[in-house]
Amino acid sequence: MFAYLSLLALGQLAVTAVVVPIGHGDTRPQASTGVRALPIATSPVGLSQAAKAAGKLYFGSATDNYHLTDGPYISILSDQLQFNQITPGNSMKWDATEPRRGVFNFAGGDEIVAFARKSNQLVRGHTCVWHSQLAPWVTQGNFDNSTLQQIVKDHTTAVVSHWKGQMYAWDVVNEIFNEDGTFRQSVFLDTIGPSYVEVAFRAAREADPSAKLYLNDYNIDGLGAKSTGVVNLVRSLKSSNVPIDGIGLQAHLIVGSLPPNIQENLEQFTNLGVEVAITELDIRMTLPVTPEKLEQQRKDYASVIGACNAVKGCVGVTIWDFTDKYSWIPSVFAGEGVALPWDENLERKPAYDGIIQGFTGQVLYK
Ligand code: XIL
Repeated sequence: MFAYLSLLALGQLAVTAVVVPIGHGDTRPQASTGVRALPIATSPVGLSQAAKAAGKLYFGSATDNYHLTDGPYISILSDQLQFNQITPGNSMKWDATEPRRGVFNFAGGDEIVAFARKSNQLVRGHTCVWHSQLAPWVTQGNFDNSTLQQIVKDHTTAVVSHWKGQMYAWDVVNEIFNEDGTFRQSVFLDTIGPSYVEVAFRAAREADPSAKLYLNDYNIDGLGAKSTGVVNLVRSLKSSNVPIDGIGLQAHLIVGSLPPNIQENLEQFTNLGVEVAITELDIRMTLPVTPEKLEQQRKDYASVIGACNAVKGCVGVTIWDFTDKYSWIPSVFAGEGVALPWDENLERKPAYDGIIQGFTGQVLYK
């Protein structure tokens, strides 16, 4: 309670914030679906405001270019009290940026960087080298080892140098591990071997020495074999002076079943001498949504944010878009959704309060 009040005492109340005089057990008029009204969030504090008050660098959201014509959406995304960081959800990926060898398209990424600059927001670049959303010419080219190394180097150099000086961080490599902590099969591993990782990091550092260079993955949020794989690789990269600055935990999680020991896992990563960030947080549920599931989701958001809050080297948190209207979840996980802190109508959910509670140290749920 004290921390919450001291946030208010900062005198930085969100200008957009409306204290909604309705508690979690509210019985607002029936929705048109005939379903009883679901609980909404009540905190008047902004998310990045809470993150900064907790000593974090940022709280951010992913976004996509086609959302940027949605006025009500934009007014929330551009509110610096909510978000002081943005990640392009798709427009900096290989298939978007180098659809043919040596032919680059930075238009989508440029639009998002310009939006972020106007709103005074940091940008995380996502992503240089990934087996998915990879331009087909890379997989279909039958390139030999040295040619593919050159391709990885050229792509990383081109993309990172295009936004030189404008990025807080880059996810240099994405999803390179299997669940057991070994390297994932890909055209890069098959052709070059594990050293493609080093090629990409070195090229990125040379292209933009001011960007923090991350490896990013999913299911490395709690302790386990995959996280151990990350620890071993980062140790080995650092001992070879490969420039890696951070580990990104995607954190695509499930309501009611968070991975074990998130805080301890963050600590084992920061003990390696790198920073960590939660880079793609969403906490999905099996539909239909109920007040009980929304309440569990609030607790789960509080737990994850609370873990980051407790670890000094956890610099920030990004949610993978902020509204269920644009979440990637329903298109990939059939029958699941409602994973984000704003609902489809851009109303805040209890998850919103959970995030604030995580940052203010009110985490009662482990
Ligand atoms: C997702 C995007 O949000 C979707 O729009 C796209 O269709 C597929 O990719 N891990 C990542 C992100 O690193 O790039 C993915 O983004 C979500 C999973």
